[in-house]
Amino acid sequence: MLLGIDFGTTRTVVTAVNRGNYPVVSFTNEAGDAFEWYPSIIATKGAEIAFGFEALAKQGQPGWTFRRSVKRELATLGPDSRLKIGEHEMSVFEWITSFLEQLHHDLRENSNLRVKKKDKLEAIISVPANANSNQRFITLEAFRRAGFDVRGMMNEPSAAGIEYAHHILGENGVGKREYLLVYDLGGGTFDSAVISLADRDHEVLSNEGITRLGGDNFDVILLDMALKKADIHEVNDAQLALLLEECREKKEGLRPTTRKIAIDLGCAIEGAGEVSLTTTDLYAECKPLIDSTVAAMEQAMQKATAEAGIDWKSLAAVYLVGGSSDFPPVARLLRERYSKQVKRSAYPHAAVAIGLAIAADTDAGHKLRERFTRHFGVWREVESGRHIAFDTLFEKDTLLPSKGEEKLTLKRRYIPAHNIGHFRYLECGGLDAQRQPQGDITIWDEIHFPFDPALRAEESLDGVPISRVTLNGHLIEETYSCDANGIIEVEITDLSDHFSRSFKLRGKK
Ligand SMILES: Nc1ncnc2c1ncn2[C@@H]1O[C@H](COP(=O)(O)OP(=O)(O)OP(=O)(O)O)[C@@H](O)[C@H]1O
Ligand SMILES: [Mg+2]
Repeated sequence: MLLGIDFGTTRTVVTAVNRGNYPVVSFTNEAGDAFEWYPSIIATKGAEIAFGFEALAKQGQPGWTFRRSVKRELATLGPDSRLKIGEHEMSVFEWITSFLEQLHHDLRENSNLRVKKKDKLEAIISVPANANSNQRFITLEAFRRAGFDVRGMMNEPSAAGIEYAHHILGENGVGKREYLLVYDLGGGTFDSAVISLADRDHEVLSNEGITRLGGDNFDVILLDMALKKADIHEVNDAQLALLLEECREKKEGLRPTTRKIAIDLGCAIEGAGEVSLTTTDLYAECKPLIDSTVAAMEQAMQKATAEAGIDWKSLAAVYLVGGSSDFPPVARLLRERYSKQVKRSAYPHAAVAIGLAIAADTDAGHKLRERFTRHFGVWREVESGRHIAFDTLFEKDTLLPSKGEEKLTLKRRYIPAHNIGHFRYLECGGLDAQRQPQGDITIWDEIHFPFDPALRAEESLDGVPISRVTLNGHLIEETYSCDANGIIEVEITDLSDHFSRSFKLRGKK
C-alpha cells in the first residue's frame, strides 16, 4: 500500500494512492470519532507514554505532561540531543521513531485503510523545504525504523505544488510554462517556493523559509495578550499547555468578520475568568510575523527572477496552503499585495500529503526537480590557524538529482600538510557579503581523519594534537555527494593506498 505522509508540527496527514484517487486517510479515536489527521502529540505520566490520539485523550487528566511540536525541535537540536518529556528522557530521534511506530500501528488498526497483514506500508514523506541534512536524515531513518518502507522524500511546498498542478490544472496538465508561488504556513514552520510548471515536468526554482514560525506563534501572542489584560504574570507548565490549547481553539474559530475574541483563562487558572480582546489588536501584534513570511517569500521570488529571468506576468497563482493560511490576517495581507492571484487550496491542511501521494503515483506522471535549500560548506584554518575561513561546497539553489539519477558529487584533491584532517562542516540559510555563513546555521559533528597512516589505528583522534608534517607520496581526495533527498555524505580517501572513511550525520541509535 502506497501512502503520502506529511509529518506536521501539529497534525500529521496521510493520503493513499488508490487508482488515480488520493483520499485522505481518516483515523478513529478511542471514542469512535473520525478525523482526517493524526495529532503530532506525545504525553507522559510516570512510566506511561502515549502518542497521537491516545495522548490527546489524556488532556485534562491530572499528572500528564504534553509535548507538541517535537518536529520543530529537529531544526535546532543536534542528533544526540536529549529531550525530556515528563520523567522520560530520550533522544529526539527516539521520540520521533516511537511516535511514528504508533502512527504505523494506528494506520493498520485504527484507520479506514484496509491493510492486509502481509502488506507493507510504503510511503513518500515530506520535510520543511529549509530542513538541514541532519533533519532530513533523522526523519527518513525514523520512518524506516518505525516500519515504513520509505520510497522518497520531498520538500513540503514542492508537494503542494504538485497538488496544485494536478487539481487546478486538471488532466491536461500545463500548456505553456507557468510559475507558481507556494506559501505554506503551518503550525511550526513557514516555507515558500517558486515552482516552474510545464506539462508534467516541474522544477523548483528557489525556496525560502523560516524555521520556527507558524500558527504556534500566534497562539503564544494571543495568550500573552490575554494574561497581560488579566494581570497574571505566572503560569506553570500544565496551565500553559491548557491555555495554549484554549488559545488555539479560539484562534481557529476566527472568521474574517469576527471583531472580538474571548479567552477563558478559567480553563486552567482557578478563579480567573474570561478575557475579551479585539481582533484588531491581535492582528496588529501578529502582523510583524506575517510580514516576515511575505518578505521571505519575496526573497524567493527575487532569487528566481535573478536566476531564471521570470516574467511575473506568467505567475499562475500565489498558492496558500497550511492550516495557518486560514488565519484571517494572513489571506488579507496577501490579497492586499497580490489581489486576485491569491488562491487558497481547497485542502489547506492536506495539500502537502495529497501532493506526496500524486508524486508517488507513477501513473499520474508528475516529475519534479528540487534544489538545495541551504548552503553546505566547511570551515578551514588559514594563516596557520590564526583565522578560519568558510568554503562553500554546495551552493543553495543548486539543482538536485531526480529520483533514480546519480548523486550530485564534488571532489577536492590536495597533498596533506597536517597529521590529522579536522573538518567542521556546516549548513546555513544564507551568506553575507564576505561569503560567511548567516541565517539558520547547523553545525555538523566535527570530523577527524588520520592523514598520517600511523594514526589510523587510533580509536579516537579527539585528543591527538594537530601538527604540521610532511607526508610524501600521499594525496587526499574528499568526495561530497548528495542524493535526491538532499542528504549529504562525505568520503575522505588517501589515494596512495585507498584508505577511506565515510561520514554522514547520524541520529543517536
Ligand atoms: N481555521 C483556522 N484559523 C487559524 N489557524 C488555523 C485554522 N485551522 C488550523 N489553524 C492552525 O494551523 C496550524 C496547523 O496547520 P498545519 O496542519 O498545516 O500544520 P503542520 O503541518 O502540523 O505544521 P508544519 O507544516 O509547520 O510542520 C495550527 O497552528 C493551527 O492552529
Ligand atoms: Mg505542514
